[in-house]
Amino acid sequence: MKLFLDTANVEEIRQAVELGVICGVTTNPTLIAREGRNFKEVITEIAGIIDGPISAEVVSVTKEEMVKEAQEMAKIHKNIVVKIPLIPEGLKAINELSKRGIKTNATLIFTVNQAILAANAGATYVSPFIGRLDDISHDGMDLIADVCQAFANYAYDTEIIAASVRDPIHVAQAAKLGVDIATVPYKLILQMAKHPLTDLGLAAFLKDWEKVKDK
Ligand code: E4P
Repeated sequence: MKLFLDTANVEEIRQAVELGVICGVTTNPTLIAREGRNFKEVITEIAGIIDGPISAEVVSVTKEEMVKEAQEMAKIHKNIVVKIPLIPEGLKAINELSKRGIKTNATLIFTVNQAILAANAGATYVSPFIGRLDDISHDGMDLIADVCQAFANYAYDTEIIAASVRDPIHVAQAAKLGVDIATVPYKLILQMAKHPLTDLGLAAFLKDWEKVKDK
């Protein structure tokens, strides 16, 4: 399973790139706002750090405006993927952009039917959200399982991104279900690497080595 980093923080992206475990980045307007920086400047900087898909989200709600925004974003860098919310106008925009060769990531997906519509409209990626469903007492992982099962029945080129990932267990479960990609916050990458037995085992190895290193 591929991992994308879900952030607009360039330092976190640098760190994750150095770890060698991510091959793309997803942002959204909230993540951009958290950095308090100019949108184009941040996206350009991210594109200079990682050579992989970078999702940048539109903030308009009509097809015409979304397509216009998308065309401007696509000029920033060849790796830009335009994130479009799954509303009817968004589907029109996804369809238009796919015809123009601009990659899209259909976001805010909460049902299998929304994912099917996005794939049929020509989305490059669909992003079903886990955590936000968990937040309202629905099992977000059920959605991931259902989208994976439905897509496995057909020859869609559209890739599935597990999004709104809040917990390392989400990542492992999404991988077992067969998603193509999970987009995760940086702190989850560190949590995924952590195991107390690894730390204890390493400490014991280093301590034992001290006993014989000068022999
Ligand atoms: C990624 O594409 C989404 O914007 C992001 O994963 C949303 O995560 P959140 O529900 O934790 O805000």
